[in-house]
Amino acid sequence: MERTFAIIKPDAFAADHAGKILARIYAEGFKVVGLKKIFMSKVEAEGFYYVHKERPFFGELTDFMSSGPCVVMVLEAPGAIKKWRDLMGATDPAKADAGTLRKEFGTSIGENATHGSDAPETAAFEIPYFFSGLELLG
Ligand code: PPS
Repeated sequence: MERTFAIIKPDAFAADHAGKILARIYAEGFKVVGLKKIFMSKVEAEGFYYVHKERPFFGELTDFMSSGPCVVMVLEAPGAIKKWRDLMGATDPAKADAGTLRKEFGTSIGENATHGSDAPETAAFEIPYFFSGLELLG
């Protein structure tokens, strides 16, 4: 079993897509080990995305992620990291395959509906950034 960290981003949450995205998560066989709605501060978003701090879109990305509530989750499945990234589709919704979440719910490369860890080391940073061990029991 593997765990990954996932976000229903502020654009998708504001558009009331969270329920549809969760339905897809369950339909694909993930176990939702952790789930909560949060409203990230700018500082929290900057800490979360620190690996991108030198990239030109860092300000735009962290402004967006702190612009409204989102849903953070820990998803468990065999090969969860790749399985979730496959379900999300390409970062740019315009390039995402039909049937993926970003194709269906994303509107731009920044406002792309969902986030997922890209590697085990990333998940190992991202999961405890938002969840304590106690929140992930069971
Ligand atoms: S990836 O999946 O890490 O390879 O994607 P990458 O292209 O490196 O993008 C990393 C995150 O930055 C977001 N992004 C942007 N936000 C705003 N404006 C622009 N131009 C932009 N380009 C990329 C992108 O949505 C990724 O967010 P996450 O949350 O990691 O999916």
